[in-house]
Amino acid sequence: MPASPTPVPVLPLPIVEREAIDPGLDLAAEIDRLRRARRAVILAHFYQDGEVQDIADFVGDSLGLSQQAAATDAEVIAFCGVHFMAETAKILNMGKTVVMPDTDAGCSLADRCPPDVFAEWLKQYPGHAVVSYINTSVGVKALSDVICTSTNAVRVVESIPRDRPIVFAPDRHLGRWVMKQTGREMVLWPGFCVVHEQFTVRRILKLKEEYPEARLIAHPECEQSVLDLADYIGSTNQLIQHVVNDRAHDTFIVATEMGVMHQMRKLRPGVQVIGAPPDSGCECATCPYMRLNTMEKLYLALKNLQPEVTVPADLAARARLPIERMLALG
Ligand code: 13P
Ligand code: SF4
Repeated sequence: MPASPTPVPVLPLPIVEREAIDPGLDLAAEIDRLRRARRAVILAHFYQDGEVQDIADFVGDSLGLSQQAAATDAEVIAFCGVHFMAETAKILNMGKTVVMPDTDAGCSLADRCPPDVFAEWLKQYPGHAVVSYINTSVGVKALSDVICTSTNAVRVVESIPRDRPIVFAPDRHLGRWVMKQTGREMVLWPGFCVVHEQFTVRRILKLKEEYPEARLIAHPECEQSVLDLADYIGSTNQLIQHVVNDRAHDTFIVATEMGVMHQMRKLRPGVQVIGAPPDSGCECATCPYMRLNTMEKLYLALKNLQPEVTVPADLAARARLPIERMLALG
């Protein structure tokens, strides 16, 4: 007799029914009108679609976006990025309304480091300073001493006394790269980004044969073998600035999410930027979570002030401290 099939668990997820939008609506004009009516600021990450980046009041990397969120006097923040970014904005603005086009926009790094498992794991490392990447949930931030982004991870780690052992979570590739830059040993949580882990030396070397003059620039979330090939390594903002400033070269292979190429082309017209191909067979790397945010959903978020990002006050108070320590370090 065949074995009975394993029952598929039914997840208690809310079903979000979004209202239909008149396809003739001028979305950009409506978003602009609502932004003013709501006294809202639109913040967008460099991985968003070009049209979402172009309508934002500020477009930036994780550090720039948290600095903007900390400084804004807008009444509403419409955050076009992934959940941990909007959550950070909320933690810094508990009295304000923070909405996202799509609250299902998670992050593989944050999702694979659950706070309860992280808390258990940390028990093995008493006395260690806990440095967490901003790509974490509020629960993990609340267990951390200081937060960092890829822009300031080296600076943050260097701010910790040399005799204090360090735990770094959740991206093992960023962690290993920071260890190399600082000469500090760290215990690494074994997390990774599903987008950046898809770049391989094999496909990049093939592309380099086609564009022998191209410089390879990479985000530190890439695997060590890819980083070893790179001519420059940096956060999304640093990669964009590098393309703008490196006038000795005009062709770049970009090993990160393809959204950054929008700003590279805008800020340096004529530059040739080629997305490093992921090993999935696609021609360019896209973050499936970031892509959940669309102009349609941004319009609805501003119109309905939903879906809202909420954080329990006690957890927010604990998570705010390590974020503020990072902001003070710059
Ligand atoms: P940045 O802080 O460099 O923008 O990186 C965010 C991120 O999620 C990279 O995948
Ligand atoms: Fe998270 Fe990777 Fe997407 Fe960045 S690219 S938001 S690390 S899943």
